[in-house]
Amino acid sequence: MTLQLRVYVPEHPLIQHWLGVARDQDTPAVLFKSAMTELGRWLTYEASRQWLPVEEVTVQTPLALCPAKLINPTVPMAVIPILRAGLALLDGAQTLLPLANTYHLGMARNEDTLEASCYLNKLPEAFAPETRILLLDPMLATGGSMMSALAEVVARGGDPAQIRIVSVVAAPPALQKLSQAYPALNVYTAMIDETLNEQGYIVPGLGDAGDRAFGT
Ligand code: PRP
Ligand code: URA
Repeated sequence: MTLQLRVYVPEHPLIQHWLGVARDQDTPAVLFKSAMTELGRWLTYEASRQWLPVEEVTVQTPLALCPAKLINPTVPMAVIPILRAGLALLDGAQTLLPLANTYHLGMARNEDTLEASCYLNKLPEAFAPETRILLLDPMLATGGSMMSALAEVVARGGDPAQIRIVSVVAAPPALQKLSQAYPALNVYTAMIDETLNEQGYIVPGLGDAGDRAFGT
C-alpha cells in the first residue's frame, strides 16, 4: 500500500467563522488572538480523532460494572508550537491535551530567500516511537519552516505516522513538499488557499500571522 499525505479541511461552522474573523484585515489584535485560540482548539479536536491513545477499562458506576474507554496516560504526548505564530494556537490545543508536554521550536523565515532557520530548539534528545506529536503553525506557505521543524522531530525519533500538523491556512507548495517527504503525515487546516505572492505570502491568506497575533 502506498502512503499518501492526508489533508483534512473540517467543514465546521466554528472553524469557518474564526477563519473569517482572522482573515479580516480590520480585526484588532486582541480578537485575532482569540480567533487563533479557537482555531487551535477546534482543529486540535478534529486532529485528535483516532490519534489519542485510549485504554479499555472497567469502571464501577453507582449501579453496575461498565466498560469504559479512557485516555491512556502512559503514552507520551508532545505539542510543538513553531514560534512565533504557532504560539497563538497553543492555548486552544492545550485545553484539549492537558497531559502533553510542550516543546518550543523557534523558526524564522528570511524575507528575501524565504529559507527558514531555527533560532530556538527545546525538543527532547529523543522521542519514544509511540509519542503522539502535534505540530502547530498557522501558516504553511513554501513549507520551509515546517520541513525544518519535521527534520528536527524525526531526527529525534518522532514517527511521521504519529504526527499531526495543525495549521490555519495551507498553500499547495507546502503540501507538495510535505507529501513528498512525509507521506504518512496527517495535516489539519481550516483552508487550502490558492497561491503565494512574490514575497511568499499566502493569497488570500491572512497576512503575517506572527505580526498580527503579537502586534509587533
Ligand atoms: C511564518 C509562519 C510560518 C512560516 C511559514 O513565520 O508563522 O512559520 O512563516 O512560511 P513557510 O511555509 O514559507 O516557511 P515567520 O518566519 O514569519 O516568523 P513568525 O512566526 O515569528 O512571524
Ligand atoms: N507567513 C505568514 O505569516 N503569512 C504568510 O502568508 C506566509 C508566511
